[in-house]
Amino acid sequence: MMRILKIILAAIVAICLIAVAGVYALSEMRLSRTYDVALADFTVKTTLSAEEAERRARTLMCSGCHHDAGNVLIDEPGVGRIVAPNLTRFVPMYSDAELVRLIRHGVKKDGTGAFIMPASNFANIADDDMAAIIAWMRSLKQLPDAVAGTTQWGPLGRIGLALDKIPFEADLVPAIITPAAARPADIGEYAFRTDCSHCHNLDTAKQSEGFLAPALKPLAQSYSAADFKTLLRTGKGVGGRDLGVMTQVSQWNFSHFTDVEIEQIQTYLAIRP
Ligand code: HEC
Ligand code: HEC
Repeated sequence: MMRILKIILAAIVAICLIAVAGVYALSEMRLSRTYDVALADFTVKTTLSAEEAERRARTLMCSGCHHDAGNVLIDEPGVGRIVAPNLTRFVPMYSDAELVRLIRHGVKKDGTGAFIMPASNFANIADDDMAAIIAWMRSLKQLPDAVAGTTQWGPLGRIGLALDKIPFEADLVPAIITPAAARPADIGEYAFRTDCSHCHNLDTAKQSEGFLAPALKPLAQSYSAADFKTLLRTGKGVGGRDLGVMTQVSQWNFSHFTDVEIEQIQTYLAIRP
């Protein structure tokens, strides 16, 4: 009797070990999958002042996740600890064309996909804004990493990767994209597509990794122009409410929109049919 129990126990342990090894191997395969996106020449140079180039780059959300020198985006026991790495350390390793491919297609220098970084929102960043982002990043002096360590996946994260449940932006960006040459004079729709739509829909609530973001159209209609400006400048909702991730992205990114741009965004969101 005891012997049979021991054999059953040993079999269970063996099956578990095989399952763990299988999940690990599949998740490593997922992480090392490469994408065949050709590098395109990118020779556009910015004619903007350094301040304006930085302002535009900051409105396009890079610093909100990266905090320039690195930032922990997710730290969930079991799932993992996801780091948006130190831009000032990675950028010198990248050519301009490689940066453009990373930002617009979600493909890293080595051809693997970048997780979480929203290339599907960035695919249509206009060429002159792209040149501004590159110029700004190259002007940053190299800083030591602000957070220790790199991304570590926990068991649940590994299972998600193994089952292909963690979306890679490189899978979402269409093969052919047609970014404009210049940031539009009215940035309403452009800002919605490159920034807000990462978390929000216009007419329905949207559930993302750890948060629920409300539909934007009714909010844009109900906010006064002054309150909407306060929201994007300070991250505080009507009545001074803290709004979590919305407060953070506003303080890091949206506070860099000009008054006119903020009006254009609200108008687009409120009146778009
Ligand atoms: C929503 C958060 C988020 C935003 C917004 C974001 N990134 Fe990232 N970025 C990440 C994460 C997470 C990684 C690590 C991805 C990985 O290792 O697969 C990363 C990686 C990088 C890397 C290093 C790539 C490598 O080889 O490991 C660079 C450079 C970079 N991002 C630049 C940018 C720029 C430029 C922008 C703005 C246009 C931007 N990021 C916006 C989250 C973000
Ligand atoms: C990184 C994700 C993220 C991005 C990007 C983002 N939002 Fe939000 N936003 C949220 C979340 C989450 C909430 C809900 C916060 C809460 O209720 O605690 C929110 C709430 C709001 C609200 C409601 C505030 C209130 O009074 O309750 C408005 C208006 C809003 N966002 C506008 C915008 C606009 C405009 C943009 C683009 C310029 C934008 N958001 C980009 C995540 C985001």
